[in-house]
Amino acid sequence: MRVVFLSPGYPAEMPEFVRGLAEVGAQVIGVGEGPAAGLPEKSRKALAEYIQVPKLFDEDSLVAHLSAALRGRKVDRVESLWEPLVHAAARVREALGVPGMSADTVNGFRDKQIMKERVARAGLRVPKAARCRTAAEVRAAAAAVGFPLILKPIAGAGSADTFRCDTPAQLDEAIKKTAQVTEASCEEFIDGEEYTYDTICVNGVPVYENVCRYLPRPLVARTNEWISPAVVTVRDLSQPHIQQGMQLGRGVMRALGMGTGFTHMEWYRKPDGEVVFGEIGCRVGGARLIDQMNFTSDIDLYREWARAVCFGKVQITRPRSYNCAIIFKRAQGQGTIVAISGLRDYIHRNRDHIMVEELLRPGQRRRDWKQTLVSDGYLIVRHPTWEGALALADDAAQTIGLFAREGG
Ligand SMILES: Nc1ncnc2c1ncn2[C@@H]1O[C@H](COP(=O)(O)OP(=O)(O)OP(=O)(O)O)[C@@H](O)[C@H]1O
Ligand SMILES: [Mg+2]
Repeated sequence: MRVVFLSPGYPAEMPEFVRGLAEVGAQVIGVGEGPAAGLPEKSRKALAEYIQVPKLFDEDSLVAHLSAALRGRKVDRVESLWEPLVHAAARVREALGVPGMSADTVNGFRDKQIMKERVARAGLRVPKAARCRTAAEVRAAAAAVGFPLILKPIAGAGSADTFRCDTPAQLDEAIKKTAQVTEASCEEFIDGEEYTYDTICVNGVPVYENVCRYLPRPLVARTNEWISPAVVTVRDLSQPHIQQGMQLGRGVMRALGMGTGFTHMEWYRKPDGEVVFGEIGCRVGGARLIDQMNFTSDIDLYREWARAVCFGKVQITRPRSYNCAIIFKRAQGQGTIVAISGLRDYIHRNRDHIMVEELLRPGQRRRDWKQTLVSDGYLIVRHPTWEGALALADDAAQTIGLFAREGG
C-alpha cells in the first residue's frame, strides 16, 4: 500500500498521522515545500520517501509536479488532513487515477454555500443564507433573512470577519468592517448550544463517531479575550439530544457523498430542541481535538484513521470512559509571559484527571489568540461524569492565570 501524504510536517498533528500510516504497514511518500531535513523527526522516521515541490498551495503546479515525479509508479492513496490541502489532494487523485473522493465532492466540504445547498436539497435543516458580493446584495439578503443575522466570509476560518448583527445599524458597521471580503454569506442567526460531530468514515459509513460541546459558543469565545474557551467530548452519545445531532450529521455526509476518512462537523441545538446544520470539513478537527477523542476512550485514532484509509476498517474496541475537556488560556497583558498563578494548586487538586498541560512559560512570547484557538496554551482533563468534566474545566478557567508584559 503506497500512500502519498500532503504536508507531513505541519500542522502539529500531521507527524502522528504519518506514524499511524507507517504502523499499519503503508509506504508513505510525504509531499511538502520545505527540505526533508526540516521535517519533524517523527515524520522523517516514518516516511519512505519525500518529494519537495516548489508550490504546495498552487494546485495546478502541485498536480504537474507530482504527476511527473510519480510517473510509472503505482499509488494507492493520496491524503491530506489539512483544510487548505484537501481539495488539492482530490485533484492529485484525479490526475493519477487514484481512488477516493473527487474534487467536486470535496468542494461540497469546502465552499460553505455549495455545502449548504447540497445539505438543504437533501431535506436537512440549514440556516437560511445568501451569497453576497456587494453591500447592496448584503442589504437585500438581510431583508430576506431578517434579524438577528450573521455576516461571514464564504471561505472563512477561525471565526475571522464573522459578525452577529441585531439591527440595520449593526449591519452597516459589519459591512464596513468586511469591506475587504470578496464573498460573504448572510445567514439567519441560530440561537442555542453549539456542538461538533466527528467521524472516521469508510465509504461514507461512520466507523467511529464523537460529539463535543463548545463552551461558550465559538463566536463568543473568539470575540472576548478574557474568556477561557473549553471544548468537551460527550462520553454518553446515547442521549436523545446528542443522537439527534448525530442523525443530522449522518444525513449531511450522505448528502455530500462522503468517502473514506475523517469528518468534522459543527451543529446547533436551539432552545426548542431543533437541531440545525452549521458546517462540515472532510478532515479531522484542529486544536488537539483528536487527542481529546483519544483520551475519551484510550485509543489511537491516528493509527485507526490510517487503517480506515488503507484497509477500509478500524479496530476500536474500548468504550467511551470519559468526558474529555480542553481549556484554552489567554494571558492578561501583552508581550512576554512573566508569571503563572494558580497552576500548582490546580495540579495538586486535580492530579489524577490531568492528561496534558501545555501552557506557555515565563519568558515565552504570547500567541495571537485571534489567530489560534490554542492561544497561550491549554490543559486537557477528563472525568467519567459530565458534571465532573465541567467542574474541572471551570476550575481551570477560573483559578489559573497567565500574565504578560511588554519587554518582560
Ligand atoms: N448562522 C449562524 N447562527 C449562529 N451562529 C453562527 C452562524 N454562523 C456562524 N456562527 C457563529 O460563528 C462561528 C464561526 O462560524 P463558522 O463555523 O461558520 O466559520 P469558521 O470561520 O469556519 O469557524 P471555525 O474555523 O472557527 O470553525 C460559529 O462557530 C458560530 O458560533
Ligand atoms: Mg466553524
